[in-house]
Amino acid sequence: CGIVGILGKSAVASDLVDALRRLEYRGYDSAGIATVEGGRLERRRAEGKLRNLEKRLIEEPLAGRTGIGHTRWATHGRPTERNAHPHMTNKVSVVHNGIIENFRELRTKLEAKGHRFDTDTDTEAVVHLITDELNKGNDPVAAVGRALDHLQGAFALGIIFAGEDDLMIAARKGSPLAIGHGTGEMYLGSDAIALAPFTDAITYLEEGDWAVLRRSGAEIYDRQGTRTERPVIKAVASSLLVDKGNYRHFMAKEINEQPEVVSHTLANYLDMATAQVRFPDLGLDLAQISRVTISACGTAYYAGLVAKYWIERYARVPVDIDVASEMRYREAPLPENGLAVFVSQSGETADTLATLRYCKANKQRIASIVNVRTSTIARESDAALPTLAGPEIGVASTKAFTCQLSVLACLAIAIAKARGAITKEQEIALVTALTEVPRHIAAILRQDEIYLSVAQELAKARDVLYLGRGSSFPIALEGALKLKEISYIHAEGYAAGELKHGPIALIDENVPVIVVAPEDDLFEKTVSNLQEVAARGGQIILISDAAPEKAGCTPAAHIQMPKIDSFIAPLLYAVPIQLIAYHTAVQIGTDVDQPRNLAKSVTVE
Ligand code: G6P
Repeated sequence: CGIVGILGKSAVASDLVDALRRLEYRGYDSAGIATVEGGRLERRRAEGKLRNLEKRLIEEPLAGRTGIGHTRWATHGRPTERNAHPHMTNKVSVVHNGIIENFRELRTKLEAKGHRFDTDTDTEAVVHLITDELNKGNDPVAAVGRALDHLQGAFALGIIFAGEDDLMIAARKGSPLAIGHGTGEMYLGSDAIALAPFTDAITYLEEGDWAVLRRSGAEIYDRQGTRTERPVIKAVASSLLVDKGNYRHFMAKEINEQPEVVSHTLANYLDMATAQVRFPDLGLDLAQISRVTISACGTAYYAGLVAKYWIERYARVPVDIDVASEMRYREAPLPENGLAVFVSQSGETADTLATLRYCKANKQRIASIVNVRTSTIARESDAALPTLAGPEIGVASTKAFTCQLSVLACLAIAIAKARGAITKEQEIALVTALTEVPRHIAAILRQDEIYLSVAQELAKARDVLYLGRGSSFPIALEGALKLKEISYIHAEGYAAGELKHGPIALIDENVPVIVVAPEDDLFEKTVSNLQEVAARGGQIILISDAAPEKAGCTPAAHIQMPKIDSFIAPLLYAVPIQLIAYHTAVQIGTDVDQPRNLAKSVTVE
């Protein structure tokens, strides 16, 4: 979910909606705003996308100089108008991101005291808890302070009060919040991007902080309730620029930006002149690493899975990897001299952050690969390794993925070099191969026609299988994820060798099978699996640098890839699978940038 708040000089409704538009990547099930108007709290809410709220506001405008807004990704309660934020009583109105874990218990207690709940949300417990404290005669600041002591979970809150035109309270426990400083105006947002049209002077609240905002400034309290100072920093202008350019969708723009952003990212970790790796100090001797533990969610997890193949093969260090939502509860024993690596575009994913904290508590050195440098994951790491992808708006991750792979490839070489697992010549060969990636991606992007024709076929399918071996296996998984995310076609990625142990039962002439098969050491093995598919009438779409004859079958389509060092194959083969998913979704007519039920950044567990 996304939160905004404005203490403005004039009516704030339209600025709140502007800010919410920049937060839609966090969810778009419903949206709403509330203001203090003539001392009373008033609100407008609407189910669905932000434009529905805008329509509501045209029919029924909302005045008021003090307001909060919210765009929702539903956790508790269906995405209806009734469950949309802000939630309120006649005394207080609240927007909330995250989960209040003890809301049932709070609700039972408050209902017993006579509070009437109108929604199925966890947020409403916060509203009534604060109202209850106000009813006892506490002033708003004291009421929120007391209420916060009773809330369990990970959340961020923005709160306004009836009769208080110059007051807003913000609280951060587990979910990010930024305060924006204007001249005689103050702002609140889930991130600095939301506040970009108004100010670039930003204060990030630290974990456990809460803040009392008035037009004259902010007073910040830490988790012990002690008044504290947090720095005002200048948000980087480039992170504030987001538009679609000439593309129909952000996703298309982001796919096409890959040659540029991958080359920026690589340039940050390689010395292009000498073809050597130039990796920042992680604060531990890379030669002494006993194990690398990698964790992430979604697409970022698949980037980590590719890195497992790279690090084990080239650096000869064992790698443990798991999705963050599992690893955080697995109670995995962690070794001395262990390096833990977290991969996250947003740097705010709740499960990834929780796993980071587990690894930190277990004395691992923490490195994170993040696209948002000011994010919580970056700030809690010993070393933050940025991907220079620029803001990624399309919900389906594309350029962030290839940039994550770029950093991970450099990390694998850096560890391999430190351990003497590769020679200088091998390092030069691997680095040279990496520097060629942007050029190859640009060439792949030019073959638009083949993707369109593949998409026309896929759009008719009900199920699609993706196969790959070795470092192409994670690419098969990512291919299936991309397709299901945006086209809603059921897709599964499988290790090619595992096909015969089950999924082969699914194959008939109606099931397209996309085979990710660079001509590497494993190519012959993948070819055997491919023939098992062909023998059962499956429609093969072959993505390979090898001619189809070498695969011993007549594929329904062949995407010709360039001849390359197999080390960089994942970086290049990621691109056709993105384009296939994109064109299939466009063909079907789904909402490519904001597919149903998903959110760009998931800050709940
Ligand atoms: C969400 C997005 C995915 C993304 C995942 C991890 O589920 O829809 O596209 O891969 O979160 O996000 P992160 O910001 O940690 O990379």
